[in-house]
Amino acid sequence: MPGISNPPRQLHFGIFLFSIGYHPGAWRLPGVDPKASHDPAFIASIARKAEDAKFDFFFLGDALATSAEQQYVFPSQTVRLEPFTMVGYVAAHTQRIGLIATANTTYADPYHIARQTASLDHLSGGRLAWNVVTGADERAAKNFSRDHHWENSRRYDYAEELVDVVGQLWDSWEDTALVGDQQAGLLVDPARLHAIEHEGTFFRVKGPLNVARPLQGQIPLVNAGTSPRSRAFGAAKSTVVFAGVPTFEAAQSFYSEIKAGAVASGRAAHDVSVLPGLVPYIGRTSEEAYALYQRLSALIAAKLDIAALERDLKIPLAGLSGDDAFPSVDEADPALAQARYFVAQARKLNRTDTPTVRHVFEYAIARGRGHFLAIGSAEEVADTIQHWFENGAADGFNVCPPHLPGGLDDFIDLVLPILRKRGLFREEYTGSTFREHFSDAARPANRFEGRGNTQAAAAFGRITETHHRVA
Ligand SMILES: Cc1cc2nc3c(=O)[nH]c(=O)nc-3n(C[C@H](O)[C@H](O)[C@H](O)COP(=O)(O)O)c2cc1C
Repeated sequence: MPGISNPPRQLHFGIFLFSIGYHPGAWRLPGVDPKASHDPAFIASIARKAEDAKFDFFFLGDALATSAEQQYVFPSQTVRLEPFTMVGYVAAHTQRIGLIATANTTYADPYHIARQTASLDHLSGGRLAWNVVTGADERAAKNFSRDHHWENSRRYDYAEELVDVVGQLWDSWEDTALVGDQQAGLLVDPARLHAIEHEGTFFRVKGPLNVARPLQGQIPLVNAGTSPRSRAFGAAKSTVVFAGVPTFEAAQSFYSEIKAGAVASGRAAHDVSVLPGLVPYIGRTSEEAYALYQRLSALIAAKLDIAALERDLKIPLAGLSGDDAFPSVDEADPALAQARYFVAQARKLNRTDTPTVRHVFEYAIARGRGHFLAIGSAEEVADTIQHWFENGAADGFNVCPPHLPGGLDDFIDLVLPILRKRGLFREEYTGSTFREHFSDAARPANRFEGRGNTQAAAAFGRITETHHRVA
């Protein structure tokens, strides 16, 4: 009976919150509140819109440093609220949507992370996932009393041990340890509460945690990264791996690497979902979509910096102005791959055979973190999504609306109905926890379950004895 025992694979969608829009000109659109990143009503309204549309998750990234100059490159990441705090708030304003909060392991301590995540999982009814990042921003070190940001291998050695300790702390309470037996006068069963006694390279942690086991047992992990260590981590441990890939070919190669890595780690390929970022410029017609991109580009506040463009793309631009045609780029030189790609994008997005220096500069800024820009009518964007989904490039997308709230409305109102009609995206939620949105995998067993805790039980015997004598 197809369709019952083996339901068709469905897309996953999350909203990646850039509260003043992914496009750096979006915050200057008429009607947009440039301070929306700090407006609780706005944040809750975006999460509720995504939930009404049955998105899998609402995702909050994070960074541990900023500067005034950053506003010209990535205004939406220049100033924003702390994600764990935001998740606590958003949880209270939603019921079903998954919630992903980012915590940077490089500057963290496992006991803190275990408490915060376990608490949020309880408060959200089991909807939390943790985006594990090790950070790529050198400036963060100076905000945490260090001289330098650690290099990649040390960051991942530290992250892997930290994640392991957090997982042990989540299990330090068996599911039934919080007994709450009013008759017997037993709040907590000491035999089901475990000291983890972790002694590793970076951490010595005794435990147990002082929060009961998370509702999801083990909270699902999410990660994104470019280095081999990051990809290996995701393949082995994450429920969702984000990708920052600009093209279909790059997405396919990333996707197959993560799936193969999952299988090599003893997991099923479908245990990990690979979700590239998608920046959808949507119009009722494709002309309208291109006009939107061009309208946003005209709002970029950064001053045209020809010298920086010349440096980044390795193309001589001296003496040219923004309105001059961008010089032709050698088709064969491998060092100019980035320049060729940027010029091709500027040509496409501005619908011209001869993009100007300014067009290329605008693309260099609008591409943000390099996520895929899908542009066209709703039908065309839906076709692209389906093509990636059915050809080994994506299990769904981390949607980064170029402007908010309109860019999210367009995606929900224009693109999702097409995908639903094609049977590719859910009409209703079937689960209510983050894990259930992504898989039918059972809630993980507790590693300490059934091991007993003889030390604690003996100590408990002494305490109750004393208590009875005193009574
Ligand atoms: C979709 C996506 C979201 C990301 N979110 C964050 C984030 O919120 N905070 C952060 O520090 N890094 C974030 N990153 C960066 C990566 O986690 C990673 O630290 C970076 O790509 C450097 O790669 P590496 O960790 O492999 O060295 C994100 C990357 C992608 C693709």
